[in-house]
Amino acid sequence: MNLMESLDESKKYIESRLDGRKPEIGLVLGSGLGDMAETIGDPVVIDYHEIPHFPVSTVPGHKGRLVIGELEGRTVLCMQGRFHYYEGYSMDEVVYPVRVMKMLGISNLFLTNAAGCVNESWKPGDLMLISDHIKIVAENPLRGRNPDELGERFFDMTNAYDKGLLALAEKAAIKKGIPVRKGVYMLFTGPSFETPAEVRFARLAGADAVGMSTVPEAIAASHMRMRTLGISCLTNMAAGILDQPLNHEEVLETGERVKTTFSALVREIIRTWN
Ligand code: HPA
Repeated sequence: MNLMESLDESKKYIESRLDGRKPEIGLVLGSGLGDMAETIGDPVVIDYHEIPHFPVSTVPGHKGRLVIGELEGRTVLCMQGRFHYYEGYSMDEVVYPVRVMKMLGISNLFLTNAAGCVNESWKPGDLMLISDHIKIVAENPLRGRNPDELGERFFDMTNAYDKGLLALAEKAAIKKGIPVRKGVYMLFTGPSFETPAEVRFARLAGADAVGMSTVPEAIAASHMRMRTLGISCLTNMAAGILDQPLNHEEVLETGERVKTTFSALVREIIRTWN
């Protein structure tokens, strides 16, 4: 079965469960934000393993399900748990859900994640609107035969992180009195955290944050001409900046500490999304 046929089956299955709901925004919840899905009103919950052709999540602490329903008066399709390249999925699998979103008529994508802070004047707990990304990882989700039905072979990434949505997010942050940073996210594959030398390299390259997700989804979304907004919760100073080792507990603790603020911002953005 080819990609378009699989996507069509996934889409039809999800649609059959939606009772006429028409999601407008696809929301991917990164580490720490997962609880937000529990606050979605009148939800339809679909486990990934129920959806034909959907990959299945393996990371502890990451749930693997779609929650579709009302958030701030909007109909959202929320991914509670995403697929990471480091788990062993191919890039095609990592971006599969975003492609299904597009098939469902969703043209707005809201990506959230946890990331390491490279910018030395910022601190753990800061929220960063993603203005652009750097991918030196060789893989690209569009490598191989181009699915022409989804988008063009060569496509623009100038506005991969939609400037209008960035402005909207900044306005939402001001309205809520939540300070935000704006910067460049650099993809590393993980699951090893970066070395101190890699973090210095990232900074030299112009990165403000490093992380293991988001970039593939943003590329696939650009290919399909979806509008994308990305926000990172900077959960830790990246390796080598502080005189202490990195660990996943710190990532989770910071995520936990800022999740109320982070979700308030996400909600205000969703409320005013245009
Ligand atoms: N590096 C990569 N990914 C991350 C980090 C980090 O320091 N923190 C949270 N996700």
